[in-house]
Amino acid sequence: MKPQRVDLLVHNIGLLVTMRGKPGPRRGRDMSDVGAVTGGSVAIADGKIVAAGPEADVWAEIAGLAVDRTLDAKGRLVTPGLVDPHTHLVHGGSREHELELKLKGVPYLEILAQGGGILSTVRATRAASENELYEKAWKSLNIMMLYGTTTVEAKSGYGLALEDELKQLRVIKRLNETHPVDLVSTFMGAHAVPPEYKGRSGEYVKLVIDEMLPEVKRQGLAEFCDVFCEHGVFTVDESREILAAAKELGFGLKLHADEIEPLGGAQLAAELGCISAEHLLATTDEGLKAMSDASVIAVCLPATSFNLRAKSHARARDMIELGVPVALSTDYNPGSSPTESLQLVMTLACLHLGMTPEEVITGMTMNAACAIGRGDVIGSLEPGKQADLVLFDATNLAYLPYHFGINHVDTVIKKGRIVVA
Ligand code: NIG
Ligand code: FE
Repeated sequence: MKPQRVDLLVHNIGLLVTMRGKPGPRRGRDMSDVGAVTGGSVAIADGKIVAAGPEADVWAEIAGLAVDRTLDAKGRLVTPGLVDPHTHLVHGGSREHELELKLKGVPYLEILAQGGGILSTVRATRAASENELYEKAWKSLNIMMLYGTTTVEAKSGYGLALEDELKQLRVIKRLNETHPVDLVSTFMGAHAVPPEYKGRSGEYVKLVIDEMLPEVKRQGLAEFCDVFCEHGVFTVDESREILAAAKELGFGLKLHADEIEPLGGAQLAAELGCISAEHLLATTDEGLKAMSDASVIAVCLPATSFNLRAKSHARARDMIELGVPVALSTDYNPGSSPTESLQLVMTLACLHLGMTPEEVITGMTMNAACAIGRGDVIGSLEPGKQADLVLFDATNLAYLPYHFGINHVDTVIKKGRIVVA
């Protein structure tokens, strides 16, 4: 139904990246088609997009309607709100003390095996009150929003006991209800084997399946289930068992796959019909082919490989060549990727993954939205979609990854409301 009036008209846009096109994630050459319009406008009513495109077309579309408010974009670049599809947003403490170990060359998995790493954050998260976790995550969400992110996926996984996992998930729910940024919640009770189950991972897997998953489902606290499938963490068989049980309960599936060792996580994600597989630094050709055949979205996390001082990075070029849809994310967490900035990820995706600026923006908008099951609501600027958009102080897409380490955001609009100005 056509609205009676326009709440907000953004005009005089220099370059408007609409990402319009057929529904679903973009793959191959389609990742380069960002639906760019020079000299555009966006008309918004009731938090949704009424029209987006060349200025004259938008004016024609809204002819006769009263316009409550206008915003002069002054020739700036406008894109859909950025979507961060993989974060560990809610956690206690920080891990700067691991920097020294890292500089000495101690590997990430060894720090974990010694009871540090994820397990150090588990101690801090268990010790924190729900309010403390909420306040800390709120600050990070604010930073994300200031940097242009309007929707965030957030995982549990630093509780590793039923009550502590529920505590994290309740914080995600409360943030979603109170913060302008939208959150999508993922249960990741299988993020590590907790210390009290050391050497008894089978029993912990049973706890996740028999108690945690059903209770999280009963309370409606998560939409997806994720597992860290990695040498010394959860095996392919354990990951399969957990995700199969989650699927049975109706959760969407995600997998931390082949981050450090090529265990076959990508193949498992394809076999189970996961919506996405993440990291994929060590994935084989066979794994990428399986993902392409099963339309599993690859969520690449170049800030993590950068911060882990990895010798190689995810093979985004091969993925794109093979037709695997690529999404990008911060992986924001206190260990492997302590950054909220998708703008930093833009630079790393270009320089380390070899992605073009167009492919990068596709990976942070449409493909990221699809990786969290929101491709029909966000990710592009098309009539009927949520009015989430970012005005960057730039005139073209390449400027964002090129001029790195600073914040290019001028204005952020969330559901038609100006939330950063
Ligand atoms: O995605 N790889 C596993 N999990 C996180 C890191 C969590 C942490 O180090 O605290 C990741 O990189
Ligand atoms: Fe992660």
